[in-house]
Amino acid sequence: MTLVTTTEMFKKAYEGGYAIGAFNVNNMEIVQGITEAAREEKAPLILQVSAGARKYAKHVYLVKLVEAALEDTGLPIALHLDHGADFEVCKSCIDGGFSSVMIDGSHFPYEENISLTKKVVEYAHGKGCVVEGELGQLAGVEDDVNVEQHSYTDPGQVQDFVEQTGVDSLAIAIGTSHGAYKFKPGQKPQLRFDILDDVAKRLPGFPIVLHGSSSVIPEFVEKVNKYGGDMPNAVGIPEDMLRQAARGAVCKINIDSDLRLAMTAAVREHFALHPADFDPRQYLTPARDAIREMVKRKIVNVLGCANKA
Ligand code: G3H
Ligand code: 13P
Ligand code: ZN
Repeated sequence: MTLVTTTEMFKKAYEGGYAIGAFNVNNMEIVQGITEAAREEKAPLILQVSAGARKYAKHVYLVKLVEAALEDTGLPIALHLDHGADFEVCKSCIDGGFSSVMIDGSHFPYEENISLTKKVVEYAHGKGCVVEGELGQLAGVEDDVNVEQHSYTDPGQVQDFVEQTGVDSLAIAIGTSHGAYKFKPGQKPQLRFDILDDVAKRLPGFPIVLHGSSSVIPEFVEKVNKYGGDMPNAVGIPEDMLRQAARGAVCKINIDSDLRLAMTAAVREHFALHPADFDPRQYLTPARDAIREMVKRKIVNVLGCANKA
């Protein structure tokens, strides 16, 4: 079994009214928890790696872990670079075995975003790799940069952007945001479905991506806080809104914070109940189990991609 690109996955997802989960991976337990869930639910999968993950675990370890997951599960899995900052990091991942990269030029002026994205697309397509671009900017924390306000995607630009760059999928900003604090206390969670609908009309059949789409599952936040954590006001995107997006043009939904929370809640609980433990296998086993159960819930409740592998 070899890595797949997202082309076939997205085509089927678009037509079938579901989305593929793109989960951030940083170590073996995270890879195993996610892939066990996908195997049990027979779901296609995108495993994605950020610059921070490559710095933490090293490129080669992450690629080998994903190769092991492919061999172990036989599932269709794409390996994707999350938030590629420049041409060099995209090239390094394309040359280093990834099947998909994101070039995140969303913070550059429009024309600069186009020329950078186009350069990555030309290189990637020559090597059989697909590319995700981004238009509009999410609020929230990303790579130590804190963006205060959403810059919602302008639907008037999407067709021109896709035509000029040749990207295979497009991330848009409709009110999701990175991290565990997506709405202010008292603020009603909402997304700009009007923008999503407008984008979908202008790009019929074209796969749209949502970043910042963790639900910041309340049970995990409660558990973290119960066992000595301090995450007041952590709140995410309601599951029904994500499901609605997945039924339409959204084919890829990015999830990282929910993995972090699931793991942290399990580890905190473990130490509260077993304060004398010092064997990492003892606390990483419940952490991996928590990831598996959480990802299964996403596949069924949010993504709708069970039995689509
Ligand atoms: O969108 C960002 C992802 O959550 C990755 O986060 O850069 O801390 O690995 P990271
Ligand atoms: P969350 O912080 O909502 O999990 O978003 C992750 C993401 O968008 C990774 O690119
Ligand atoms: Zn993101």
